[in-house]
Amino acid sequence: MTATPQHLLDIGSAPLATLHAILDRAQRLLDDPREAAGLLEGRLLMNLFYEPSTRTRVSFEVAALRLGMRVVNIAAADSSVKKGETLFDTFLTLQAMAPDVLVLRHPEDGAPLSLADAAAPGLHLVNAGDGSRAHPTQALLDALTLRQHFDDLGSIRVLVAGDLHHSRVTRSGVALMKKLGVGEIRLAAPPGMQAGPQVSEGTRVFDDLDQALEGVDAVMMLRIQRERLAGMEAPDAASYHDRWGLTPKRLGRASAHCIVMHPGPMNRGAEIDSSVADGERSVIVQQVRNGVFVRMATLLHLLGA
Ligand code: NCD
Repeated sequence: MTATPQHLLDIGSAPLATLHAILDRAQRLLDDPREAAGLLEGRLLMNLFYEPSTRTRVSFEVAALRLGMRVVNIAAADSSVKKGETLFDTFLTLQAMAPDVLVLRHPEDGAPLSLADAAAPGLHLVNAGDGSRAHPTQALLDALTLRQHFDDLGSIRVLVAGDLHHSRVTRSGVALMKKLGVGEIRLAAPPGMQAGPQVSEGTRVFDDLDQALEGVDAVMMLRIQRERLAGMEAPDAASYHDRWGLTPKRLGRASAHCIVMHPGPMNRGAEIDSSVADGERSVIVQQVRNGVFVRMATLLHLLGA
């Protein structure tokens, strides 16, 4: 048996048994939400967010509340970070108030790793996205969504398309799909936005969305990460959409049962048409719902409940 890790920082460092346990528990909670009531009664979760978030922050909060936890939300923009306090000092300050779980979102790659080394034994860190490096709970909710639609992940083709280079969703998502043995992973991105060699290894790489879509069972569209382009000029929405937007016509190249995924936030009219985002193949709302249950399962797993 593998020991339960103290933190969830990225997919690479999480034991496969932990990832499976979280996915299985999340599905059981979805099937019978009563199973969860009060399991973490009175425990304390802090959400520390240095970047904007709607789905991730709220779903950690809802997950914690459904388990009976108490929640404190700290937006860095309203905190002493504005007075020059470092992430590390902010962490030590919050840790002194003895939360059971600290959920961190931060723009720097690797930010939660340095904190993990200084974490007290009773504190569990969950990475809610660091720079363009990792976003493990997003990968888990996406994998849960795939499992709900396909019995055998080993026989499906999944395409991830858009700004892969700047995307932590790509890094964690592809890492998890590889660990779970997804049959074929395809990556498609415009010039300058392709994934690096480590992510691309073992995948099929395309530079054309139409070709990449041929016969896929699932497609995950990603927005351009404008906040991470570092000097690179961002294309305007209309010209990007011409070559990289998922339209009903393009989706016609995929298999008849292909599901459409997007982690959000969507830029309608850029990487995805409204008619596709709201269409019958879209599972985008289901992904959001799954996010709450994956985060409940993550909290239960880390806290041993
Ligand atoms: C993603 C993120 O923050 O990495 N959003 C999310 O958590 N659902 C994707 C994005 O911002 O594009």
